[in-house]
Amino acid sequence: METSQVMRTTGAVREFTGQPVDDRVVAEVLDDARFAPSGGNRQGWRVAVVRDPAVRRTLADACRPVWGEYVAQLELGETPFSVVAPTAADLDRARRRTDDVPAFEHIESVPVVLVVAVDLRQLAVSDADLDRHSVVAGCSIYPFVQNILLAARDRGLGGVVTTFLARVEPQVAEPLGLPEHHALAAMVLLGHPVRQVRRLRRNPVESFTTVDRFDGKAFRA
Ligand SMILES: Cc1cc2nc3c(=O)[nH]c(=O)nc-3n(C[C@H](O)[C@H](O)[C@H](O)COP(=O)(O)O)c2cc1C
Repeated sequence: METSQVMRTTGAVREFTGQPVDDRVVAEVLDDARFAPSGGNRQGWRVAVVRDPAVRRTLADACRPVWGEYVAQLELGETPFSVVAPTAADLDRARRRTDDVPAFEHIESVPVVLVVAVDLRQLAVSDADLDRHSVVAGCSIYPFVQNILLAARDRGLGGVVTTFLARVEPQVAEPLGLPEHHALAAMVLLGHPVRQVRRLRRNPVESFTTVDRFDGKAFRA
């Protein structure tokens, strides 16, 4: 498949057929993904291929209150978990929601569950000392995570990146055997898609690209 086509059609897939995914394919996907860039080429990623259904259930259940917080903020028109705007939601109440997290309802039967962590000692965080939330830290792990989705797509698989688990990291560190100085970056579900995404909804280039300055004139080819 053309690279451009892979990028344009790698949407979030949350429903999978019952067809299993061979470990050999998972190994191939990770073997492609490892060519991701990272600051200083430190490659601080670690991956747990979570097979144990009981551990999967523990992870999914741990995310339930986070889903409650997410929905409560969405319902107020907020950006969930914003680091800029404080939420007006009653998060204590939101955490008591009992509905299932989308994509996690049947986590035991999802063909592949990967938990991706990063070794914080390997991160080059050039914006760490600014008086705002760091974004550079994620740059050394999320290209790897996206590569997993792209490599999976290239093999006819689909998947979704989820980050709810990071919010409950202290709670799931033990069942995952998360090493010291490591942070959870994502839980990635993979499998054969029930439906293949054909067209992704994304904003056009001119809506986010300007010349010379971010308040410059619109960039046009
Ligand atoms: C950092 C990050 C966190 C995400 N977390 C979740 C999640 O917790 N649950 C989920 O179902 N999808 C999650 N997604 C998937 C997004 O919802 C998805 O990329 C977005 O809605 C675009 O969907 P599309 O590619 O199908 O158009 C996440 C994506 C990213 C990049």
